[in-house]
Amino acid sequence: MADGTSFYITTPIFYVNDAPHIGHAYTEVAADVLARWHRQAGDPTWFLTGTDEHGQKILRTATANGVSPKEWADKLVSESWYPLLDTIDISNDDFIRTTEERHETNVQLFLQRLYDAGFIYTGEFEGYYCVGCEEYKQESDLVTGTGEYVGQPVCAIHSKPVELLKESNYFFRMSDFADRLLALYEERPDFVQPESARNEVIQFVRQGLKDLSISRSTFDWGIKVPWDDTHVVYVWFDALLNYITAAGYGSDDEAFAKRWPATQIVGKDILRFHAVIWPAMLMAAGLDVPQRVFGHGWLLVGGEKMSKSKLTGIAPNEITDTFGSDAFRYYFMRAIAFGQDGSFSWEDLSARYQAELANGFGNLASRVVAMITRYFEGVVPPEGEPTEADLAIRAAVAAAATDADVAIERLAIQDAITSIWRIVDDLNGYITVQEPWVLAKDEEQRERLGTVLYTAAEGLRALAVLLSPFMPKATETLWTALGGADALGPLTAQPVRDAGTWGQLPAGTTVNGLEALFPRIEATNE
Ligand code: MSP
Repeated sequence: MADGTSFYITTPIFYVNDAPHIGHAYTEVAADVLARWHRQAGDPTWFLTGTDEHGQKILRTATANGVSPKEWADKLVSESWYPLLDTIDISNDDFIRTTEERHETNVQLFLQRLYDAGFIYTGEFEGYYCVGCEEYKQESDLVTGTGEYVGQPVCAIHSKPVELLKESNYFFRMSDFADRLLALYEERPDFVQPESARNEVIQFVRQGLKDLSISRSTFDWGIKVPWDDTHVVYVWFDALLNYITAAGYGSDDEAFAKRWPATQIVGKDILRFHAVIWPAMLMAAGLDVPQRVFGHGWLLVGGEKMSKSKLTGIAPNEITDTFGSDAFRYYFMRAIAFGQDGSFSWEDLSARYQAELANGFGNLASRVVAMITRYFEGVVPPEGEPTEADLAIRAAVAAAATDADVAIERLAIQDAITSIWRIVDDLNGYITVQEPWVLAKDEEQRERLGTVLYTAAEGLRALAVLLSPFMPKATETLWTALGGADALGPLTAQPVRDAGTWGQLPAGTTVNGLEALFPRIEATNE
């Protein structure tokens, strides 16, 4: 990182040809959890997301809907993409649209610099193009179509025919960078993650790189090539630059120097763009390559990548309307190892909601707050001499906090939740064994009862702090119930790396009544 401290994280920018589905929301949530964690750790954090609005794909969708591409993009952004951020509680610091002036001007600046430095030349392009991917395809990328397109070469991702292009284009000398890229992957083994993605990228680059066609001249929905306005910039070349134009490249050198390079989260389908083309572009411009590029897996429905174009898309609010945004965030981060594919199912979501959130965590919180209310008039009691069982909880909390931070550093989000969840399980076990309701019947056990409930409340304090990046709403409710805001200040100001230090919730803190964190879901007869 440029100044050694800042954490800049990005999601891909999303095509505005359609409304978001849970696959898009998945990327957003993962990046958001990482951003919130770092923010709460006190790292200067900057989280960018946005929309990819140029190119043939958007142009065709807009035309098919009888509006201009800009009108179409404006409508989709305001009706679907901005609202998504609220639906799943995203804390982005900026949102870039590639049709904004701050982006367009600095894409031109970047391109002009590459041109002046001799990295761009004119050539003839002839080959296949998939508008769905907005990508030039090799024959080896194609498969034989079935159904409507039987026998035709189709894109392996979209199952739709590719188009044969023959155009005079500008080319970027990407082939010059193969050796430098291979050296980069070698010197920085965590540049591309996970390992499987890294191997695939190395394999690909070892076969040699071709120069990249970076302009189109048969339509005009794009950023004009600065020295030739009969061409527009290839949409991926334009889109990748969002990560630096939004960070201040060309407009605010100081901000840019502080922020760049970023941790970049992308789906594995677009890994090559980010791990090959993008660093080559940056090298050509003399800029730092990303901090790291992480390719996450796909959400599968019926064994296939979920997508709107294949009619398997599920809108995020279909889930959040019933389960809420916290459960959405928790479920996808908990159920799927970040970096691997995962199958979505309503049954699994409901089962985890019930077992882990409602019964595991929610119930624990309600019981502890209710017992402090009942047995100590709502005031957190002091703890006495700890027993081995109490010390085990302290140790579990300390270990969970450390392990979770280490996991987040590795972008192993699922491992982080698993570590934190040990506190939930251990506390539930602790309460079952300690039986505070039995202690409460014996006046002589008053101090012991206080110690048990203090231990449980302090464990919940740590849980609220550690789970806040994952479930901002429920943890906020819990924080209020624990009296955390009065005693310790705002939840998001609690340093996450210090969450494992025991004894932060002061005895004498007044708790407040707690509504169910994860209410029972009434079954609907669908
Ligand atoms: N516009 C390009 C990205 C440009 S970044 C400079 C793009 N957009 S996209 O809208 O098609 O996809 C955006 C992200 O959503 C990608 O990371 C993609 O992997 C992710 N997903 C789309 N469908 C998905 C699933 N079914 N599962 C998980 N992620 C998925 O590509």
